[in-house]
Amino acid sequence: MVLFHLKTFGCQMNVYDSSRIVGLLAEHNMEPTEDETNADIIILNTCYIREKASAKIFSELGRLNKLYLRLKGKSPVFAVIGCVAKAEGENIFKRAPFVSIVLSSQKYHLLPELLKKALAEKEIIAKENVDNKKGKKTKLSHLINTELSGLEKFACLPVTKNTEKIAFVQVQEGCDKFCTYCVVPNTRGREISRTEKDVLEEVNNLQKLGAVEINLLGQNVDCYNGLDENGEKSSLAKLIKKIAKFENVKRIRYTTSYPSEFSDEMIELHATEPKLMPLVYLPIQAGSNEVLHKMNRRYTKEQYLELASKLKNANPNIQISSDFIVGFPNETEEDFEQTLDIVRKVKFIQCYAFKYSPRPNTVAAKMDGQIDLKIKSDRLKRLQTELRKSQDAFNKSCIGKVMSVLFTDISKVDDGYIIGKNEYLQPVIVKADTKLVGTIQNIKIESASYANLKGKII
Ligand code: SAH
Ligand code: SF4
Ligand code: F3S
Repeated sequence: MVLFHLKTFGCQMNVYDSSRIVGLLAEHNMEPTEDETNADIIILNTCYIREKASAKIFSELGRLNKLYLRLKGKSPVFAVIGCVAKAEGENIFKRAPFVSIVLSSQKYHLLPELLKKALAEKEIIAKENVDNKKGKKTKLSHLINTELSGLEKFACLPVTKNTEKIAFVQVQEGCDKFCTYCVVPNTRGREISRTEKDVLEEVNNLQKLGAVEINLLGQNVDCYNGLDENGEKSSLAKLIKKIAKFENVKRIRYTTSYPSEFSDEMIELHATEPKLMPLVYLPIQAGSNEVLHKMNRRYTKEQYLELASKLKNANPNIQISSDFIVGFPNETEEDFEQTLDIVRKVKFIQCYAFKYSPRPNTVAAKMDGQIDLKIKSDRLKRLQTELRKSQDAFNKSCIGKVMSVLFTDISKVDDGYIIGKNEYLQPVIVKADTKLVGTIQNIKIESASYANLKGKII
């Protein structure tokens, strides 16, 4: 049995890909191991979104290689896959020559074949090194494929035998938006949607295995337009309506939305489909129209606010979460204050905020007016304080309310307590029988902190 250690970085798309890779490698007698010191294969599924993320991959490669050098006598096959693989390509072999395989996220189905090749070669080299007393070491070949081929991989990757209650299903791949700061259109290629049949088969399989919550994934999930059974273009709302018909599926989520692609059909569905969770993840990035324009985000602050109020009018339970970038080139103090202003207006409930990171081969990296790191750090801190206020206020407003919670874990710190997520993905902790893990319960919220809610079963 060949053991592989797979480490995943980056977004949910990578998490999803990794879960399917585990299924694929299982078919080839390769088994995952948590133990990084005892693997025949090390696979890093990587992220290129910010400089820190991609630097982490190279330091991780260096660390793991050193670790095995120290362990002597053992040297795994290293594979770098995902967004860094696509963006850096051959460069990875230059910076980390001990890496054998570099593979873009759309070529995962080639992984078993390449791994087997590298493992076989390793064996031959090991033998040669024993025969050759001088210790002349021959290096492993470098195997690389960083082509973008759209949906090819989905046909080849077996669905993981996931028995988790919460399941992720990628419905769309790639991005055509070309925000001027972002590497994703380069690392993941053009937008392309899986067919309804393909998605529904996967959902059906997952719900039979016990999934009650389905999360639909796509870089721009609102742009989902896979073909339906009549060969016509479908939409995210139409797809969700079909998924809602599966009896075992109790909750549906989707991520990530692009504000100007959010359809009236989806707003309407939030008013009528109770399985659709009332949390909309709608990255705004910045509150100033000038900055939005320079980012090539195709909406204005006013349009965003209008969409937020349309959503809340359609369903008053709806809450919005978002992503922000501070310190985009030429962002002035006034521009930044408009971002703070948007936070006060929309009252987001959970957000991610990032310092702008210039990325290779993006338009914004070449813009004049790059902002000092000190200013970026200061703005990030101020934004996070404002975001925290709105999240705190929302958490407090939950006290006294009855919320639906899908329990997934037994608490490791509080004996006799179980943990789950409510409609808004807030962690909820309750004293209850551990048998309730895996079920959805109505919980009356009794207290709230920034990190979680506590309550009791009613
Ligand atoms: N498709 C999604 C998210 C993609 S990446 C969307 O359009 O919103 C996730 C987040 O990373 C983005 O929302 C953005 O806030 C952040 N991000 C992307 N590129 C970045 C960069 N160069 N510097 C800092 N943050 C960045
Ligand atoms: Fe990147 Fe923009 Fe596409 Fe999101 S919409 S993945 S931020 S280019
Ligand atoms: Fe990172 Fe690629 Fe996702 S760059 S955020 S892993 S699409």
